[in-house]
Formats: sequence, C-alpha cells, structure tokens
Amino acid sequence: MRLSALLLLPLSLALASASQEPLVNSQPTDEPTVEPAAEPTPKNAYLASTELFPPGPEVAHLTTGSTLDIEPPLSPRHEKAKAQLLDSLIRTPQNWARSHPRYRLLEVLHGLRRHEYRYVEQLREWGEAYQTLPEAQRELIRASTTYHTNFDLIRNLWPKNGALATNILEHALEYYEMDPAELASYIETAEAQRSWDYQPSITDALNHLVRDWTADGAHEREPTYAPILATIKDLLAKHPADAGTFKVLVPGAGLGRLAHEIAALDPRIEVTANEYSAYMNTCYRYVTTLRTPSSTSWHPYINWWSHQPSLAETTRAVHMPDVSINSSSVLWIEGDFLREFASEEGAYHAIVSLFFIDTAKSSLDYLDAFSRLLVPGGSWLNLGPLLYGSSPKLQLNLNDLLAVSEAMGFAFQPTPEEFGPLTLPHRTARARELGYLYNARSMRRNTYQAQFWVARKESRTYTPFPPPEAEPYNFAPGSHF
Ligand SMILES: C[S@@+](CC[C@H](N)C(=O)[O-])C[C@H]1O[C@@H](n2cnc3c(N)ncnc32)[C@H](O)[C@@H]1O
Repeated sequence: MRLSALLLLPLSLALASASQEPLVNSQPTDEPTVEPAAEPTPKNAYLASTELFPPGPEVAHLTTGSTLDIEPPLSPRHEKAKAQLLDSLIRTPQNWARSHPRYRLLEVLHGLRRHEYRYVEQLREWGEAYQTLPEAQRELIRASTTYHTNFDLIRNLWPKNGALATNILEHALEYYEMDPAELASYIETAEAQRSWDYQPSITDALNHLVRDWTADGAHEREPTYAPILATIKDLLAKHPADAGTFKVLVPGAGLGRLAHEIAALDPRIEVTANEYSAYMNTCYRYVTTLRTPSSTSWHPYINWWSHQPSLAETTRAVHMPDVSINSSSVLWIEGDFLREFASEEGAYHAIVSLFFIDTAKSSLDYLDAFSRLLVPGGSWLNLGPLLYGSSPKLQLNLNDLLAVSEAMGFAFQPTPEEFGPLTLPHRTARARELGYLYNARSMRRNTYQAQFWVARKESRTYTPFPPPEAEPYNFAPGSHF
C-alpha cells in the first residue's frame, strides 16, 4: 500500500494486516519496557479542523514537565536575534523558493506531522514481509520467541513517538509564529504534487536529541566534550579579569548541548551557537522549553530492528532532558554560518568546531570565517573527522588541512597528551576515538578517529577570498552516519 493511501486510513486499521497471527498469551521471555499509556487528550483544533489529517488515534501529549508557561524572559540580544529570525522567515512572491528558510521550515513541519504514520507504515510492511515466510518457519518462531507479537507491541508505542513529533511541531508553529492553516495548505499542495519523505532527516534530528539531551548520549558526550571544556577553562583563566566577557562561537551546533556546557562553565562566558538545519533548529527550540529533567520520554530505537540484542532494548524508553536546561544561556542563530556572521569581525575569543569543518564545500571558507571572526590571538578549537560530504569542492587530508591553516595565519598550540596520541608526528592534532549516534547497548558501534587541535589566530595576511556562494551549502543530514 502506498503511503498516501495509508494516510487516509485510521492508524488502527492501517496495521490490521501487519500481524494476522493470533496474539499468544505467554509472557515474553524478555519483558519490554512499555510505559503506561498517557492520558489521551483531544487533538489540537487545527489538526481536527482539516480533512487532510486522518482520524488516527488520539495523540497523547508529552506535557509532563513541559513548562512553556515559565519560559524566562528574553535578553535584549535574544530579542534582537528572534526579531531578525522572524524577519528572515517573511516570504514574498519574489523571494519564495525551496531554499527559503520558511520553505525549509514547512518541509520539517510536514515531516513531523507524518512521522508516526511513516514508521507505522514501515512496521506494517515488516509485518507483511513476515507473513510471507513459510508456515513451518513461522510455527517455529511462534513456539520459541515473541517475534510475531512484536508488531502489535511496537505499534502501540508509536503514538508516544508521534506525540513527541507533534509537540515539536506545535512548539515550532508557536515559536516561528506560523498559522497552522499555512502548514495544512503546504502539506495539501506538497502531497498532491510530488512524492515526499523527510523521515531520514527527522529521525536524524531525533537521534541527535538522544546524543545531546539524554543519559543515553553520555557515552558520546563525555569523551567528546572533555578536551574542549578543559581548553576553554584554560583560556578563560588567561583572559584578563578586566577584559569583559569571554565570547565563544559554536558553528554547526547540532542540538546545542556543547554550547550549553560551555556556557555553564562560568558566568563570564557568553556563548553564541549557530545551526543551519531546520530539522535541528525546530528540535532545539523545543528541547530548550523543557526545564524539568526526565519530563519527556519516547522510544528512539523502535524504528530500526538491526543490531538489537533484545526486545527490551528495542522498546526501551529514553527520558529527556537529562539536565535542567536554561535556554537563555546560549544565543542561538539559525542559518548558514557563512552568511549569518558575514558582517562580524574580531567578535569572538574562541571558536569551537565540533564535527563541523567537513560539512563545507570548501573548508577554506570556514577557516577564513574563523580567522575573520576571532580577535587577534583568539583560539580555534576543532574536534571531528574529515568526512567530506555534500559534493565538496575540496577534500584535504589532515596534513594538508593543517598546512593550509598555518598558511592562513593559524599557529597550532601544544595540547596535553591525555587528549590523545598525535596522529602525525610533526603535527599537534590528537586522535580521539569518538562515538556518534549509536546506542551503546546495541551491537553496533559508529566511531571516528576525531582530530582535536587548538590553533591561535596570529595573522590574516593571505589574499582575500571572493565572497562564498550565495546559497547555503547543501548539507545532507545523516552524511556523518
Ligand atoms: C555532523 S553535525 C554535528 C552537530 C554537532 N556539532 C554535534 O557534534 O552533535 C554537523 C552540523 O553542522 C550543521 N551545518 C552544516 N553546514 C552548516 C552551515 N553552513 N552553517 C551552519 N550549520 C551547518 C549541520 O546542520 C549539522 O547539524
């Protein structure tokens, strides 16, 4: 069945064919962590008011601890950034294009709206595939496992994930001041005109929620943040007491945990973070409304059955946030790093690129921007791989990248041995084996020999580059994993 057809069916009917075998009463050998269903609440008026959306199950909202009502007041610089952001979203007949930030936002909201249905459809297909096994095989599976009951079990968990997507969507409508009717009209047109499937990017962003804001992400965060936070502390200690705030910029900030960790180090630190992806930005805007630890939960591992040691692991609920978040401690600038900061010069004492420099078409554009944005003597901290994606124009190896950086006026600083072994004997880059977006309890490991270095801006004497390309670079979410 095509997805468009599925969307016309109530969810309960859509999966009716997924597990035609009778449910067995025997206890699963491996008890899944199914939480009690949340109280159903009526769908939002706009969802009910349009025939576009099928009358699926009531969506339970994950409101426990979501305290939008006590959002702290915005500082003047946050207010200015928000006004600029809303301005950038204004559409006119002249500027309307797929690269317009409002268009990209609508795509994300469309994807969030369809998140649950898309994966319920996938589950239905898996159920149908199972039914095509020879009866003798299914008989053995039934007799020795609970596999045949997993479809219904997991189908019943999907409303919780759907509710998370809905909450992110609803917060985005409010935050970006978008009329729900505009979204409904966009979805209607998009679904009538072309095929659509934003789920890889939605899932990618939700997986970043695990990486950044749950206890499950600690195995990635701790070794990743350790050298960065230690270096920032060190630089702060050398920052003269009368020199005002110590300004740090984190481009390509993902879902922002590192930026918040840096801000939490010391009140003298002022952090600005930047992120291009509207998938990341809508999730970030939502997660920073959650003030109470563990106030929200979902089941991030139910959509991928590979590498799972047990049903309990596949269905395990993950809670977020793992800490109380202060949204006002970081200034979050949405948009292309090369464009958003083009008019600033000598504004930051440190720039931290985490899993970022390889997202550029030409890393030299990023290096040039770092050099312009840093104060003389400012520091560039890097940690990440060189995984070039998105049709790069330049794919320098580590040695060449460091050589070009030196030619652009960066002086590489010695760093402690505890941060990792030197990758090249004559260079100061240190290798750290770091995980990225994997469940540590699964049977899969996704790691990089990420490179850590600290470089000081000494001079900026090379021939100026022409301005970078007008369009934001074509970042393909998921290109790192
Ligand atoms: C591999 S992810 C790393 C995210 C985050 N630093 C982390 O470690 O979890 C790279 C991030 O850079 C962002 N990005 C790519 N190109 C960008 C650009 N031109 N301006 C701002 N952000 C960009 C992507 O959207 C993505 O979130």
